[in-house]
Amino acid sequence: MNDKQNISHSEIVLQIKDLHKSFGDNHVLKGFNMSLYQGENLVIIGKSGSGKSVMIKCLVGLMEADSGSITVMKNDITKLTQEALDILRADIGFLFQGSALYDSMTVRENLEFPLRRHSKKFSKNADTEALVLEALTSVGLAHAIDLMPSELSGGMKRRVALARTLILQPKIILYDEPTSGLDPITAKEIIILMQDIQKKYNTSSLIITHDMDCARVISDRMLLLIDGIDYAVGSFATLSASKDPKIRAFFKN
Ligand SMILES: Nc1ncnc2c1ncn2[C@@H]1O[C@H](COP(=O)(O)OP(=O)(O)OP(=O)(O)O)[C@@H](O)[C@H]1O
Ligand SMILES: [Mg+2]
Repeated sequence: MNDKQNISHSEIVLQIKDLHKSFGDNHVLKGFNMSLYQGENLVIIGKSGSGKSVMIKCLVGLMEADSGSITVMKNDITKLTQEALDILRADIGFLFQGSALYDSMTVRENLEFPLRRHSKKFSKNADTEALVLEALTSVGLAHAIDLMPSELSGGMKRRVALARTLILQPKIILYDEPTSGLDPITAKEIIILMQDIQKKYNTSSLIITHDMDCARVISDRMLLLIDGIDYAVGSFATLSASKDPKIRAFFKN
């Protein structure tokens, strides 16, 4: 039996209820709901400009919602102090679109950076070198530890960015377009890596993507963000068989 068949019975690690966000007359989110279960890969699909990034920014506290509730591991994030929010943030990895490495720092220094930023999560005596090496090994790039970002290919940069996310041992990983800009073979390697990481660390992941191959391979469930709401939620198989033209539009190729 597939070990993911019981996902709907596992714990909710992240929940958004009735989220609203407008910019002037532009009502981007109009009552958006979402639940992410422990250990699952939830893929979010939506047209460009539909509000996916706005949603994820509200989730990590980079943007304030107009109304609605956001609960992360049972904590209502709107009610947390800055300090409590910082501690919680160390449990959420965010892989930015592109790779966003610091160009003037080596791979090692790029990975040490979040360790310093979230020093509370690790004891003072934590072996930084060992943590950096473990994260790099899990993305197959231990040999690149002393290289500069300019010496890496696009796919390698994406892997280093992933290692930098992993080094904090997050319980939840948010991926914004993890395969965009990569050739199909490298994109597939990144998808396999994301699956390996999920298995190894039992993380829960929210994955924003336009890449339907990625969605098909990696998703336990998919959520379609249409007209500011969670228009449809279901497995790839279920949604791709839908007769609703708004849903069909995403699967036609
Ligand atoms: N800081 C902001 N100020 C004003 N409007 C904004 C701001 N951020 C986003 N928007 C608007 O919110 C809407 C949703 O933007 P968002 O970036 O979430 O889209 P998206 O779904 O992530 O698109 P893409 O797939 O292209 O990344 C857009 O109309 C955008 O112009
Ligand atoms: Mg976006």
